[in-house]
Amino acid sequence: MKTPKRLQSLLDEGLIDGVQRQLMSGKEAMVFVVRCGDESRCAKVYKEATQRSFRQAVDYTENRKVKNTREKRAMAKGTRFGKQAQEAAWQSAEVDALYRLAAAGVRVPRPYNFHDGVLLMELVVNAEGAAAPRLNDVEFTAAQARQHHATLIAEVVRMLCAGVVHGDLSEFNILLAADGPVIIDLPQAVDAAGNNHAQRLLLRDVANLRTFFGRFAPELLTSEYGAEIWALYQRGTLAPDTPLTGRFVHRRGPTDVGSVLREIDDARAEEAARRLRMAV
Ligand SMILES: Nc1ncnc2c1ncn2[C@@H]1O[C@H](COP(=O)(O)OP(=O)(O)OP(=O)(O)O)[C@@H](O)[C@H]1O
Ligand SMILES: [Mg+2]
Repeated sequence: MKTPKRLQSLLDEGLIDGVQRQLMSGKEAMVFVVRCGDESRCAKVYKEATQRSFRQAVDYTENRKVKNTREKRAMAKGTRFGKQAQEAAWQSAEVDALYRLAAAGVRVPRPYNFHDGVLLMELVVNAEGAAAPRLNDVEFTAAQARQHHATLIAEVVRMLCAGVVHGDLSEFNILLAADGPVIIDLPQAVDAAGNNHAQRLLLRDVANLRTFFGRFAPELLTSEYGAEIWALYQRGTLAPDTPLTGRFVHRRGPTDVGSVLREIDDARAEEAARRLRMAV
């Protein structure tokens, strides 16, 4: 196909040899299949930030490291330079997370390069070599659902042990490759130790897996891996090979009504944002 403008500089720099086709255009990015030598790779072209408010909301970006104080001040003030700095920080967060997670042994697309707002990474493929489907596009038997759920819970644990919470994990951001599930779409990933919303986001990520795979294997619906994982993490005893039961005894005590109401408000706002995103 004709080279889209945003990919021209990668062609000029010799980072890619051609553009094969567009995979999809979402709200936040356009994704292309590109040729690099005799390999196909995936190029994710980030769009302008205008419609991204939900994942760039404060709960995701809280405590993110910024290069210098000038950028920090500009970002706080919302100047044009500040907005550019924020945009760059957002895009590079995905590359950073991919490198960090790949190093920790999490199955994510292998990152190759980040150039001019374009992330060049491994094209995740199915057994036929075509772009892999999202979990949402696949039907599973109960046994397959149990197996993929277990694999993905182990991946969530590995991520948390590497200090990362995905923050938008769902059947829409996991691809089914020939060799199993691959986690994608990480610009909103949060730092597990430094972000006050990390616990809530982790619990939601794990609950999304439960709800999705519970459609095929209903016994998963009563599991409580999220609470169990977070409790072990907080105690400092979580390791990638820690055995999990999926059961968790919640502490009984006086209920903090204020915090329950905050959770409900958060959940409502998130659901509204999610619907908005899916409507496109
Ligand atoms: N490395 C990859 N290999 C194969 N397909 C990919 C890869 N990365 C992304 N895709 C395809 O492109 C789609 C969008 O990618 P991604 O979720 O990273 O972008 P996004 O703009 O944040 O999307 P959305 O807003 O829809 O979640 C994915 O659902 C998937 O189908
Ligand atoms: Mg996505």
